[in-house]
Amino acid sequence: MGRIRILPDQVANQIAAGEVVDRPASVVKELLENALDAGATRIKVEVEGGGRKLIRVADDGQGMNRDDALLAFERHATSKLRTADDLLSIATLGFRGEALPSIASVARVTLETATGDDAAGTHIEIAGGKILRVEDAALPRGTTLAVSDLFFNTPARRKFLRAESTELAHVTALVTHYALAHPEKHFELVSASHTIVSAPPVTRTAERIYQIFGKETLGQLLPLAAEAPFAHVGLPELPPWKKNPDDPPRQPGALRLSGFYSKPELQKLNRNSIYIFVNKRLIRDRLLLHAITEAYRNVIPPTSFPVVLLFLEMPPEEVDVNVHPAKTEVRFRQQSLVHDFVRDSLRTALIKARPAAGFLAALDSQPSASPSLMPPATSPIPGPPGDAAPPPPPDSDPEAFAGGQAGAESFRLSPVAPTPVPGKLPFTSASASFGPTDGQRFGAGSFNREAWGEAAKALFPEALVPGAESCSPSPNGSEGYGDNPVAAAAWVEAEQAAGSLNRLGSLKPLGQLRESFILAAGDDGLWIIDQHVAHERVLFEKILRDRQVEQVQRQRLLMPLLVELKPEQMVVFARIAEELETNGFEVEPFGPQTLAVKAAPVGLEGAELERTLGEVIEQSAAESDEPTQNESLNRLRSRIAASIACHSAIKVNTALDQKRIEWLLLELAKTDHPTSCPHGRPIALLYSWKEILRAFHRL
Ligand SMILES: Nc1ncnc2c1ncn2[C@@H]1O[C@H](COP(=O)(O)OP(=O)(O)OP(=O)(O)O)[C@@H](O)[C@H]1O
Ligand SMILES: [Mg+2]
Repeated sequence: MGRIRILPDQVANQIAAGEVVDRPASVVKELLENALDAGATRIKVEVEGGGRKLIRVADDGQGMNRDDALLAFERHATSKLRTADDLLSIATLGFRGEALPSIASVARVTLETATGDDAAGTHIEIAGGKILRVEDAALPRGTTLAVSDLFFNTPARRKFLRAESTELAHVTALVTHYALAHPEKHFELVSASHTIVSAPPVTRTAERIYQIFGKETLGQLLPLAAEAPFAHVGLPELPPWKKNPDDPPRQPGALRLSGFYSKPELQKLNRNSIYIFVNKRLIRDRLLLHAITEAYRNVIPPTSFPVVLLFLEMPPEEVDVNVHPAKTEVRFRQQSLVHDFVRDSLRTALIKARPAAGFLAALDSQPSASPSLMPPATSPIPGPPGDAAPPPPPDSDPEAFAGGQAGAESFRLSPVAPTPVPGKLPFTSASASFGPTDGQRFGAGSFNREAWGEAAKALFPEALVPGAESCSPSPNGSEGYGDNPVAAAAWVEAEQAAGSLNRLGSLKPLGQLRESFILAAGDDGLWIIDQHVAHERVLFEKILRDRQVEQVQRQRLLMPLLVELKPEQMVVFARIAEELETNGFEVEPFGPQTLAVKAAPVGLEGAELERTLGEVIEQSAAESDEPTQNESLNRLRSRIAASIACHSAIKVNTALDQKRIEWLLLELAKTDHPTSCPHGRPIALLYSWKEILRAFHRL
């Protein structure tokens, strides 16, 4: 007798359940998707014990008749797919016919369903895959599935379940995501009679964000919409014998993007706040994550992530959803087109909006690990289900900040902790020292250096030390607002203060604060501009532009500068030498471990020149790719440009005359990203007129 046997259905279902159902949240996902596929407009999810004890999902969708209700628990039974060809254009969330039998094989399930026509409803009970009871029941139209004692018959899997709060957090994340993708539907999540999500139908995603996360989060996000036709590189064609000559020619359709993206001031330490939906299906996708990271490159630090809610819509033929049992991954037919479209749309939106950071918002803008997009009731919350340890983005460059401020010694190649810049502003109502003294008008153009001296001391208890113009972000956490009444209203202000940096060019410069920050008056309030990072951004974009047309200006050094390198640094140098040369460096080997720098980009001299080289070599050492591939070459170029810009930009503690300040503001206004320096630090902060009035109790 042979050794091979066909597995009993129950075993096959349990195996499938291993892939599809790994925690309560994945059960909720399958049931929610079924409800949405059934056209429900109202979905209520109830859980007990984080879903380990009970998950109940009730919908008002089309329901099932008795036969269908029984069939639904059979393996490979689905109403959503008929032929293999249908797989090419799946418009429903489910299609595998696997979810219900899988769930029923590892839990106790009660199904109540009715189609709302004359026939009676159906009540079915199943435990561990065995049907225990089937009977008629008087029920309203719709379906309710209750799943209790998950993994009661598979103790090994039960052990992997985490604490109740963790599982509840995953369930919440899931319901939240689907609620965001379907603002026109009513979603409710209740845990042990405590309502966690309650979202009645609204017309726009913005309203849904407001419903779920509140005003503050909405205030930190900007809307996005873009559309591009699919270049017709050939849709999957039907075989000739299936083609109907009367059918109209197939259209390639369009790629549509909508959603929200965060202002640069909102940064996260992980990617748990990046939500991507493709045709309303929540997915994880490295390609799109990469496109998002690329869009924010040199706008936020490479170690930070934005908050992004992206809804991509495309013809179902353009995306293969049948690549993962849990249907959380997809494959695009035209990968690079989709990638570039997302990257460019996001980048263009950022350039156009040029959101200004509000003064108070910036205080709280240190990157945080907390996902901002969570209903407040359920923190701490892990990321999207199953996204525990996402792979690093292809371009992650954790070393990018290292050596932000090398010391006087020649090459410092180990990471240096950046110097924190004093950042706590005493914005309590008691801090009357902020602002001009009595009798002075707070009007544009009446800047008085002496009068502001005291205010400056209050603002910056420590003088900025030379070298504090490090481009690296301050590593300290955000300072709490405490009982600050101004901060209490910060969310209102943050939203109102959200001016656009498009106005930068028309500001009236008032002077400098400690020869480090430019103060300027605008109709919208008082602007404070960090002169070093402002100039850095101007130079950075200029260098990249000049590089593009191979016209970086170089200057000959009177004496070659000799730089000693370690052998491994020599290897890195050899790898990037060509690009350095195109960027204005003329460097020749001078002995086995020494380089002679004969010319350098204009503006880069002495110790700064040496530091720039050290920084670029150090950062490139972390990169294993050859700089030949387009993308790593681009990264290398921006690294070099950022480093040159940082080391040749105007320093803090440098007096600037009126003309130079005006020039700097005008140049900054012309840049693509006046929001932040190439390393992600804010450039200009707006202390809005409203904030000022409020602080002076005039509002
Ligand atoms: N809430 C519901 N309302 C109406 N019909 C439902 C509901 N849930 C399930 N069904 C029916 O039961 C069938 C089986 O559901 P199941 O989730 O097992 O498979 P599927 O949704 O077709 O595919 P997948 O395994 O990818 O989810 C569905 O095709 C659908 O016809
Ligand atoms: Mg399903």
